Amino acid sequence: MKKPHFICVIGGDGIGPEVTQETVRLLKETTLSFVFIEAELGYGAYQKYGTPLPGETIEKAKQSDVVLFGAVTSPPNIEGYRSPIVELRRELLLYANVRPFEPLPGVRAVKPLDILLVRENTEDLYAGVEHEIEDGIMAERIITRKASERIIRFAFQIAHTKKRHKVTLIHKANVLRKSDGLFLSIGKQIANEFPYIEYTDMLVDSCAMQLIKAPEQFDVIVTTNMFGDILSDEIAALNGGLGVAPSANIGDQHAVFEPVHGSAPKYAGQNQANPTASILSACLMLEYLEEFTIAGHIRSALKETLARGVKTRDLGGVASMSEFTDAVIQALP
Ligand code: NAI
Ligand code: MG
Repeated sequence: MKKPHFICVIGGDGIGPEVTQETVRLLKETTLSFVFIEAELGYGAYQKYGTPLPGETIEKAKQSDVVLFGAVTSPPNIEGYRSPIVELRRELLLYANVRPFEPLPGVRAVKPLDILLVRENTEDLYAGVEHEIEDGIMAERIITRKASERIIRFAFQIAHTKKRHKVTLIHKANVLRKSDGLFLSIGKQIANEFPYIEYTDMLVDSCAMQLIKAPEQFDVIVTTNMFGDILSDEIAALNGGLGVAPSANIGDQHAVFEPVHGSAPKYAGQNQANPTASILSACLMLEYLEEFTIAGHIRSALKETLARGVKTRDLGGVASMSEFTDAVIQALP
């Protein structure tokens, strides 16, 4: 018998635990064998333990093959509170955030897109280094050679593996001449290592516009942390909303898979949230674990369900979260 996959399951807050549990229920219906290890993180954990990221959670995450995560709620104004998911990504050295967007049947998109966004996950303004200055606050934007090389090479490698033809590097080097100038110059250098992949670069504001005017020109996008954060929400909105956008956080040793959306507190506990983003995140997880066949089965079952018009409310349907998951399970081969 094949060795089981050890999955650390962290629901988090709001709709995070619900959508994650639906995904686990679906995974249990496949022919693969898993060991699920539950762990806590988020505002709920903070209220229980006084810390949003208990040490035990870090240990469980490190000892598992992968982590399947839901979402967290950021509480307003708690002195010293830091986003536990940002911390976990740092603990596990997850330097690449990968967000694939693809057209989905039955999902009304402003623009159906087929784009793989690769976002640097460790530095930029997210280093969260802020200083008091005379009349306000200064935030440090850190761009290092090491992290830039690592993320840009990762983007070219994933383009190569996924048989994508083009990489577009997004920056603001006309204003941030030194920091984004460095990122851009490294892009040009690494592009030379992959002569068979087309390479171009674009200013971030222009990219925001081109995504709406002519999104066909994009294939793989690679960018720094903050621009990646903003552009991925734009792409998600164009492509049918946050309910269907999955993501992967990848490092050399560990990986965390999670929906792009947050904890949507107003839908929590109502069996109404869309589990699609979590289910697609689990497909990315299975691909990372090289379970390509089962990932393909889940993807097909999900698309078949959506194409039949079985949809949750955010997509204009009437199915509850559990009815939707049941339909996907029914559609598995
Ligand atoms: P959000 O993504 O939680 O929700 C925005 C809106 O999108 C919701 O009100 C809902 O209408 C819709 N939506 C999102 N996911 C959905 C789903 N699965 N099914 C149906 N509808 C869905 O973003 P928001 O409202 O800005 O933030 C809520 C909380 O989540 C905040 O505390 C925020 O800090 C946190 N957050 C956490 C993230 C994470 O854990 N990675 C990412 C983004 C926000
Ligand atoms: Mg975001």
